[in-house]
Amino acid sequence: MFVSENLNVNKKGHLTIGGIDTVDLAVQYGTPLYVMDEVMIRNACRRFKSSIDKYYGGKGMVCYASKAFSCLEMCRIINSEGIGLDVVSIGELYTAVKAGFDTSKIGFHGNNKTDEELEYAVDCGVGHIIVDNISELLRLEKTAEEKKSKARIMLRIKPGIDAHTHDFVKTGQIDSKFGFALETGEAFEAAKQAVECENVDLVGVHCHIGSQIFDIAPFEEAAKVMLGFIAEIKDKLGHEISELNLGGGFGIKYLNSHDPAPFETYIERVSEVVRSECVALGIAQPFILIEPGRSIAAPAGITLYKVGARKEIPGIRTYISVDGGMGDNPRYILYQSEYEAVVANKASEERSEKVTIAGKCCESGDLIGENMPLQHAESGDIIAVCATGAYNYSMASNYNRIPKPPVVFVNNGESRIAVKRETPEDIIRNDV
Ligand code: LLP
Repeated sequence: MFVSENLNVNKKGHLTIGGIDTVDLAVQYGTPLYVMDEVMIRNACRRFKSSIDKYYGGKGMVCYASKAFSCLEMCRIINSEGIGLDVVSIGELYTAVKAGFDTSKIGFHGNNKTDEELEYAVDCGVGHIIVDNISELLRLEKTAEEKKSKARIMLRIKPGIDAHTHDFVKTGQIDSKFGFALETGEAFEAAKQAVECENVDLVGVHCHIGSQIFDIAPFEEAAKVMLGFIAEIKDKLGHEISELNLGGGFGIKYLNSHDPAPFETYIERVSEVVRSECVALGIAQPFILIEPGRSIAAPAGITLYKVGARKEIPGIRTYISVDGGMGDNPRYILYQSEYEAVVANKASEERSEKVTIAGKCCESGDLIGENMPLQHAESGDIIAVCATGAYNYSMASNYNRIPKPPVVFVNNGESRIAVKRETPEDIIRNDV
């Protein structure tokens, strides 16, 4: 009935998440409110992990991309699932460290890591630093030398695959700020320099071809291209690359019309490609890493809002204004992303109208969505926007000096606060 399987309707006709009435959550914690279902998060981690066990003999690791959604409690949950973590800034790494995350399972990303970030990553003993460019490689070599340590690195490669078209092409994508291009020989030169470095250990290569991808074919193609590169490094440099990181990007269902491939099928098919390509190329099967973010966090989350104004503009549209907006969910203004919405206290009724859900920022484009099927919504109703667990809280801002909403975790009928609601005092915390 709803896009995410953890959503249901109870006897009162109210939307539930993880067995809890969302209207009760809105009353208890206030609105706007992010709600994350711990069971969904854990299930997604386990599905990815068991797929690697089943289809690739367990020779791989899932690293949750924490840019999708991070806070101490999320890091604790991910750590307790025994999987790894992808971080992309000092803040994400600090959060993981403070949550007690096993740093040997952390990969540090970023196309422009600062010296401070590189030093902190080396100090923390992160499992991998995914090197994006030559300047970073040289700075890391120096930092590792100064700290008398050896940094385990992967090189971020642009495999030349455009995953956003069905008819993906192999030659584009040089125009990206991330990583080394294969076609120009830049990637090979980087590998050569990395092998010559004394304080870095080139253990792997990495690619990430995009996000919210429904097809498996571009992932298979990327794996082939990357294995070809591993074979080239072995042939020409005599250096064995033992790890292949294929990034994240697995699509999820935001609308009922969306039909992403199940991630088990992705792991099955990519494992098959890796096995057969390795035989063909005469190279050892690498340890595989994947970095799902959205597919672990998004379906687990919803955002609850309270309706303020209802504005009908005859012949044009109906605006339903809520007490949040682009500050807590900037994805419509950025990407025109689509979401399913439900009036939580009327969840068993028909979605009889098509409305525009508007936020409260001083910005016309501050919308949660347009043309959204919705039950008749009036002032005081609670609206749930579904599948907001990824790239909502993590991309939230204080535009208009609006305090950020809290995050509540639910688990089989129980709820607990994970991130407190910001207050006006928090807004001026760093002002002097
Ligand atoms: N690994 C790397 C290196 C990445 O750059 C990303 C996402 C991921 C993994 C995780 O991808 P996922 O499985 O979540 O698709 N703000 C955008 C999404 C940006 C994704 C950036 N990189 C959005 O809201 O749709």
